[in-house]
Amino acid sequence: MKKTVNQNIMPVSAKIDSDDRLSIGGVAIDTLVQEFGSPLWVICQETIEQAAHSLKAGLAHYPRSLPCYAGKAFLCTAMAKLVQEIGFGLDVVSDGELYTALTAGFDPSKIFFHGNNKSASELRYAIECGAKDKGRSGSSPRIIIDNFQDILRIDEIAQQLDTTVQVLVRIIPGIEIDTHEYIKTGHDASKFGIPLEQIDDAIQMIEDAPGLALIGLHAHIGSQAMDTQAYVDLVALMADLYRQYKEKYGKQMDHLDVGGGVGIAYIDSDQPINLTDWAKSIADAVIETFNNNQLALPELSIEPGRAIIGTAGITLYEIGNLKRLPQGTNYLSVDGGMADNPRPITYAAQYTCDIANRMSSRHSSKAEKWTVVGRYCESGDIIVQETSLEAYQGDTLCVFCTGAYNYSMSSNYNRTTKPACVLVKDGRAAVIIQRESLQDLVAHDRIPSWIATEAGKK
Ligand code: LLP
Repeated sequence: MKKTVNQNIMPVSAKIDSDDRLSIGGVAIDTLVQEFGSPLWVICQETIEQAAHSLKAGLAHYPRSLPCYAGKAFLCTAMAKLVQEIGFGLDVVSDGELYTALTAGFDPSKIFFHGNNKSASELRYAIECGAKDKGRSGSSPRIIIDNFQDILRIDEIAQQLDTTVQVLVRIIPGIEIDTHEYIKTGHDASKFGIPLEQIDDAIQMIEDAPGLALIGLHAHIGSQAMDTQAYVDLVALMADLYRQYKEKYGKQMDHLDVGGGVGIAYIDSDQPINLTDWAKSIADAVIETFNNNQLALPELSIEPGRAIIGTAGITLYEIGNLKRLPQGTNYLSVDGGMADNPRPITYAAQYTCDIANRMSSRHSSKAEKWTVVGRYCESGDIIVQETSLEAYQGDTLCVFCTGAYNYSMSSNYNRTTKPACVLVKDGRAAVIIQRESLQDLVAHDRIPSWIATEAGKK
């Protein structure tokens, strides 16, 4: 089977011209840096579209599905618009993500609101945002119940607003995947969801709540999963819960959401599953297990984030200092680092990089071993541990697979400004997130009067 985008390290539109220079989306990297500055996040629209298409292809034989995009991986108004255009629903986990989506005109009825500690005001905002009087569809986002407090809060708000909220319950399935400890979420000790032992009580509470309509169950077992077996096991476990529910209540839950988490290749040795195969094996497992349990097929949602946006993004940096230490380490410093990509320091994540203006540099006889480091005041600010490159000051370093959890987890550490983000397609490039200015950095600062006064006295 043909590789899907998550199995490649470069975006689908990446090309190397006869001068050994990289282009993305038909735009030369030099042009991007000249026009938009450095560091720069660049997103290839075609890669996003192909990833979405591959997932849809895996669900094509399933009668009713609503694939969603997990906004936490990367969200801005342009991304929300694009997600709507490709026909996906959207997962949000905060009022900020919800506001971003609504600002872009996203249909609230295709939004799913998650979170393990949703505040009362966030819940009210989510429930109100679908109201007809706001000129929207009349359907609010579906809300994923994570805990017993959610049940009470959502029911109370729904009753106050004289509405019924469609909810799913997130379960802790007790299924573990082989990934970094911080991004496992399906194991027994997970902070997300309701343990299987308490599911009956939670469901009964929801059934008794006048403001809630239970439409299904949800689970998300973790992130950067490389195969499907855990998802197949998960579906079997969930089908059993749907059967038990039907036996007890004489009706069936009509929606099933098995989460996201499908992985991408960051380095050559990463071997993630084909996206179409991943979606297809989930759909097949649902068909088989629901049929075996004499259950009607529910509307099926999957909600990947990384696999949609990860490979689409690259980060461009200007190479600054090259430091060769007598003890043997060579440091190649760039003008960004852990503030625009906190994944290496957080999860020991590995990345692949190249010199965008000399793409064959790793094979050059002048190549040296470099540790690529950022500009931040932290020894752990390492982007790539060891890589072979022929590199010079002023070159453009490109780091691949930075679309997911880079911008969305970025910071202003050391009071640096966040880079711009540019979307490219078919020879066109447009800013979708503006570069921050120094003025932006102090825009929210306030000096208390007593400091101002004391300072004024001196
Ligand atoms: N659905 C739920 C309920 C989630 O919690 C997540 C991710 C997703 C979907 C999407 O997972 P994905 O397909 O992107 O793996 N910051 C970490 C990843 C944290 C993922 C949190 N939840 C990283 O940079 O690896």
